Amino acid sequence: MPGIVKGQRWLDRHVKDPYVQAAQKAGYRSRSSLKLLEIHQKERLFKPDMAVVDLGAAPGGWSQVMAKIITDPKGFIIALDKLAIAPISERVTVLQGDFTEPETLEKLNTLINGRKLDWVLSDMAPNFSGLKSVDIPTSYYLAELALEFSTQVLAKNGSQLVKVFQGSGFDEYHRQLKQLFEKVTIIKPKASRADSREMYFLARGFKL
Ligand SMILES: C[S@@+](CC[C@H](N)C(=O)[O-])C[C@H]1O[C@@H](n2cnc3c(N)ncnc32)[C@H](O)[C@@H]1O
Repeated sequence: MPGIVKGQRWLDRHVKDPYVQAAQKAGYRSRSSLKLLEIHQKERLFKPDMAVVDLGAAPGGWSQVMAKIITDPKGFIIALDKLAIAPISERVTVLQGDFTEPETLEKLNTLINGRKLDWVLSDMAPNFSGLKSVDIPTSYYLAELALEFSTQVLAKNGSQLVKVFQGSGFDEYHRQLKQLFEKVTIIKPKASRADSREMYFLARGFKL
């Protein structure tokens, strides 16, 4: 019973959430798309010919936002997730797979085909158990994998935007980013729920 009550409360909050309503009205598949849009409007992240990998992309909201900007034939977006993603646009190639598995990385590298990337984005989040001692380390494991991938595929001066959760691991991740990138900013978009520990590390200017 308590689980049903909690689920109903979540649904009520979700339906009334102005960001959910705004995202739906704009035709975006996720509330998260408004977070990326907000960061892009403030920080001018994307240009039409950029090459981007979007990790943890389902249902596809972030890739939808980028597909409106990355319109040049030289640009592309690869949207990866464990879950299926319905087609988005001709600029977006969808890859279904678990990013923690080596064969997914191989497939991703085959798609990238040696092109150095302008952006690696990761909005990946584990399925939360509700136990901080499990959830926070799992989310940093995903963030670490995203960073390792960035060091292999980013062009000089390329950039990374990665979701993390405040908790043990935050300072160490921040320290690593500062070593590898020229400028590191911590962002809590207005569209991110105030009661969530979610934050984004925006790291620009990969030193190579
Ligand atoms: C918050 S959602 C992303 C929302 C997305 N940015 C959007 O705007 O539609 C987090 C996603 O991370 C994905 N994810 C978590 N762990 C993953 C993994 N190991 N490999 C691939 N995707 C993963 C989940 O399946 C989920 O779809």
